[in-house]
Amino acid sequence: MLAAAGFSSFMALAARADAQLDRGRYLVNSVVACGNCHTPKGPDGKPNGPELSGGEPINSPVFSAYPANITPDMETGIGKWTDAQIIDAIRNGRRPDGTIIGPPMAIAFYREMSDTDVKAIVAYLRQVKPVSHKVAKSTYKIPLPPSYGPEVKSVPDTPRSDKVAYGHYLANGLGHCMDCHTPLVRGRNDMSRVGAGGNTFGAPGGNGVLTSPNLTPANKNGVAGWTDAQVKTAITKGVRPDGGAIVPLMAFAWYKDISADDQDALVAYIRSLKPAE
Ligand code: HEC
Ligand code: HEC
Repeated sequence: MLAAAGFSSFMALAARADAQLDRGRYLVNSVVACGNCHTPKGPDGKPNGPELSGGEPINSPVFSAYPANITPDMETGIGKWTDAQIIDAIRNGRRPDGTIIGPPMAIAFYREMSDTDVKAIVAYLRQVKPVSHKVAKSTYKIPLPPSYGPEVKSVPDTPRSDKVAYGHYLANGLGHCMDCHTPLVRGRNDMSRVGAGGNTFGAPGGNGVLTSPNLTPANKNGVAGWTDAQVKTAITKGVRPDGGAIVPLMAFAWYKDISADDQDALVAYIRSLKPAE
């Protein structure tokens, strides 16, 4: 009997570990899209190199940032980091040696990531294929902050029963959509105008400059006039109602796999944004 009890609790543990890995796989390969920065990509925005082995440099007037190799490689990746150290990097922007991770990694948003989800992401990262690839060091012309705020220690889950609240969580803590879509004032998102857009980005392949659209109802030509299905098509396929393509700065190669429930929650949240110019 004891042996049977031991076996069944082993089975329960294994099932829990499977569910955690599945959750991490879903998140990283859909709404969170760590690979949109950390995986090599082609000009079409689709991954075209070993997963999470280090991405294309991201340039702005104040930095040249090189997204790190976050595969479990022992020398050039994060194979030597403990789970707690990886969680600290994601939510507090701090490496094991105490240095601070710079932009554009959206630490200010990832601070909202729940313990359950950040652990699931770490479980997934652990089993990605290790790739030896040394990535150049980023350079910043601005001083990095000493920290991103009080240390994040524990974050509860957001209940899915509240669609708008869960959509907020998806668009902020998980997907950092609102990082790109909320105006930057002196390098910080002005959250009193969340979703109002207006940030500029170098287009992929150096083809000019893109501006993030205003997603709030103040934009009469934007999502306020679209059906829910049209908003979902824009997010997951990068196609506007008029058939125009949205440039793949957004991670369509990943967002195409956002679940139907999560798409509903994202739309509910976007619809709840206060009008902001
Ligand atoms: C918007 C682009 C972007 C996204 C999305 C992003 N990162 Fe990063 N990340 C970076 C950049 C750029 C750096 C290097 C910053 C620096 O050099 O200070 C970095 C650094 C890191 C580091 C530090 C690695 C080291 O060796 O120093 C870890 C760990 C990390 N990211 C994990 C993640 C995970 C996990 C996700 C998804 C939850 C993620 N990142 C999403 C851009 C991004
Ligand atoms: C890296 C920055 C970035 C991230 C992250 C991002 N977006 Fe975008 N988004 C943009 C830009 C830039 C455009 C416009 C691209 C263009 O002009 O072709 C855009 C376009 C859109 C549009 C079309 C709106 C319109 O009026 O044309 C929607 C809807 C949208 N994003 C929603 C989202 C959602 C939801 C997420 C998160 C799941 C997200 N975005 C993540 C930068 C971003």
